[in-house]
Order: sequence, then C-alpha cells, then structure tokens
Amino acid sequence: MLFLLKQMTARLMLAVGGAVLGSLQFGYNTGVINAPQKVIEEFYNETWLTRYAEPITAGTLTTLWSLSVAIFSVGGMVGSFSVGLFVNRFGRRNSMLMSNSLAFLAAILMGFSKVAYSFEMLILGRFIVGLYSGLTTGFVPMYVGEVSPTALRGALGTFHQLGIVVGILIAQVFGMDLIMGNESLWPLLLGFTFIPSLLQCIILPFAPESPRFLLINRNEENKAKSVLKKLRGTTDVSSDLQEMKEESRQMMREKKVTILELFRSPLYQQPILIAIVLQLSQQLSGINAVFYYSTSIFEKSGVEQPVYATIGSGVVNTCLASCDQMAWMSYISIIAIFGFVAFFEIGPGPIPWFIVAELFSQGPRPAAFAIAGLSNWTSNFIVGMGFQYVEQLCGPYVFIIFTVLLILFFIFTYFKVPETRGRTFDEIASGFRQGGASQSDKTPDEFHSLGADSQV
Ligand SMILES: *[C@@H]1O[C@H](CO)[C@@H](O)[C@H](O)[C@H]1NC(C)=O
Repeated sequence: MLFLLKQMTARLMLAVGGAVLGSLQFGYNTGVINAPQKVIEEFYNETWLTRYAEPITAGTLTTLWSLSVAIFSVGGMVGSFSVGLFVNRFGRRNSMLMSNSLAFLAAILMGFSKVAYSFEMLILGRFIVGLYSGLTTGFVPMYVGEVSPTALRGALGTFHQLGIVVGILIAQVFGMDLIMGNESLWPLLLGFTFIPSLLQCIILPFAPESPRFLLINRNEENKAKSVLKKLRGTTDVSSDLQEMKEESRQMMREKKVTILELFRSPLYQQPILIAIVLQLSQQLSGINAVFYYSTSIFEKSGVEQPVYATIGSGVVNTCLASCDQMAWMSYISIIAIFGFVAFFEIGPGPIPWFIVAELFSQGPRPAAFAIAGLSNWTSNFIVGMGFQYVEQLCGPYVFIIFTVLLILFFIFTYFKVPETRGRTFDEIASGFRQGGASQSDKTPDEFHSLGADSQV
C-alpha cells in the first residue's frame, strides 16, 4: 500500500486531476438540463410568442425540448468517432487542451441564448458541448491510462467514472431553484461549463504529454524518458520504457482490423454482437431517462420537491448510499429510482466498456471501440429524444418498457456473454467457435464475479 502511495507523485496527480476535469464536464452536461426543464421551456414558450405572435403548442415544445436534450448525444457520437483524428497527431494532452475551445464556444452559445431570444443557440450549444464530450470520453481514459504506472492504472482509471458522476451531481445541485435553476440564472447554469474548461487550460500545460505518445507515435525516446522520470519520481524508468516498447511490438504484429471486417469475419461476429448489445443494455436500461428527466418524473409522481429527489439520485450515484425523509407515497418512486441508479453504477454502467477491451485483442480493438461508442451514443440519443413521447403515450408505465428490455438483456447476457476473467483472448475466441459453448463451464458464482471483478 505504501509502495503504491509512493508512486502517486505530485506530477501524476496534476496530470490525472487536470484530465478528469474533462470527465466532470461530460457528467455536468449530462445532468444540467434536468432540473431547469420547466424554466427553460417557459423561455421557449415566451420566445415563440414574441417571435410568431402565438403561444407554442405542447407538441412543438416537447419536440424542441427533447431535441435540446438529445442533440447532445449526436454531438457525442461525432466526437467519439473523431478521437483518433486528434490523439495520434497532436498528442493526448494537447488534444484535451484544444477540445476546450468547443466547450468555450458552447458555453457562450448557451449562456447568451436567453438575451438573444434564441433557442436555436441553446440547441447548437448542446450539440457542440456533446461534440466536446464525445472527444473527451476518448481522450481522458487514454491519457490517464498512459501516464499511470501499471500498478495504479486500474485505480486511477476509475477516476474517469467518478468524475462523470460527480459532474452529474454538481449539475443537479446547481440546478436547484435557489442556486441557478431559476428563471433569471439558468443561462449561467448552462454557461458554467466554461469554468472547468478554463481550469483545465490552466492546469494541463503543467502536466506532461503522454510518454507513450512521445515514444511510440513520435519516436522521441529522450523526451519520453524525462517525462517518465518526473511522473514516477525516480531516475530509473527502463522497465516502463520496456513495457511500452513490448506493447507496441505486439500491436505491430497484429494486423489492424477495419470496422467492415469486424462484421464480415465469423471470428468477430459474435463478440461484436455482444459488445453492441451490452452497450444498448446500458443505455436502454433507462438510466439517462433518469439523468435527463428525473425532475419531471418525480414531479408527476407527486414528489413535493422534485429537484431534491433528483439531487438524491445523484448522491446515490456518487456514493451508493441514501438518507431521506419524505412522505411514503412518493418515497417509493424515490427509492425505486435511487436503487436503480445504485445498481446501474455496479453493473451496466462500467461493464460494457470493460467487456470490449476483454473480448478484443489489439488488432480489432480500435474498430470494436468505435462500434461500441456508436451504439452507446445512438441508444443514448433514442432515449433522450423518445422518452417524453413514450411517456405521453404510456404515462407512468413507461418504465415497464425499460424493465422488459432489461429482462431481455439479462437473458442475452446469461446465455451469450462468456466469462472473461482469467482467460486469454485465444481461450475466449475458441469458446465462440464452439458456438457459445463457453457457457458450459460458467458457474453462477463465476457469473457473479464478473461484476465484482470489473469494479476494481
Ligand atoms: C405558453 O405560455 C402561455 C402563456 O404564458 C400559457 O398559457 C401556455 O400554457 C404555455 N404553453 C405551453 C405549451 O406550456
């Protein structure tokens, strides 16, 4: 333990801390449109009235609001696909720094949408901050993984997930009526995304570029060495260099697989299906229905202070514990959603991403991650865009749809997803060749440990 702490140098902390501000941004912008839905809808209505001399219809308002929420995922989709264009050209740290210009632009568009009487600016801002988020969710785990020493990589990797949930929580707290979620201050609430980006622009220039990028992409061994010395706080960094070189040799040995080949080759068809379905199950579990719309859900189920309940779900999300005192009727809906959020963070939250890394070796992994990201953002969009419509159709039964989907995903996972713990890629692949027979050796105990294991 002491040995691990010693590896946690000031420079490493600075690098990781600066980077996860990006994760925080992603979380913040996921959660920020939840609490102020009503006040911003009123702004849409007013703007419509002054512009077209008639009040907005309920249908148009639903469409405009759903679009404002969900266009974030369209940006995210484009962004996550563009990660590769940046990281190998400009480096990981500089890519993060550059992407902040998107966050600044988005903050300005959203922050000034009210004074400009333009909901278009808000929607465009949501798209751009989505673009930024898609990029950042690629940049941050990569950078953090590459600056961390092997022994700390898993632990520091969880800071990305933590940054996201803390970001959601901050957005929910700031979204309270008496802080910024009110008629006059909501532009500040949306524009606040400016601050973490500014902070990152101040911190990251002091953090080093990824040593892996310097060594492998740039072939600048001396620079990589000096960066590693600062990060590790030691003068002997030969084992780190050795490990990176070995890894890059292995990567060279394996041919890169394209996205098309991933779907054509029988070798990859089953694993990619699993990767896609698990990503769908993460999003279609309805978790983002909660993060996007919980205030209005709580309101409809009779909770007196819906924003507090929303914050509660954020607290559960962050520390997996709760403590509330409210009337028992609404209590049930709150407990249900709290429990839901808690379980999400243990299972479908992080696991789909671990699975992609564990099912695919170096060659097909980039293509597999691209497909996984695409499935994730697409289903995220479907939930964000469609939720209010489905809710209007089925009322409070909307969550039954998610329940049915979750049962289907559970069945799929039980029968189709192999245990990956302690198995090599070859062993997993041969399991697929036997037509999913890899199940035969899966005991319920092992099945359970998949979750515990991936939690780190
Ligand atoms: C829009 O505002 C008007 C007047 O303030 C109100 O009567 C109407 O219900 C609002 N429309 C919607 C869809 O909320």
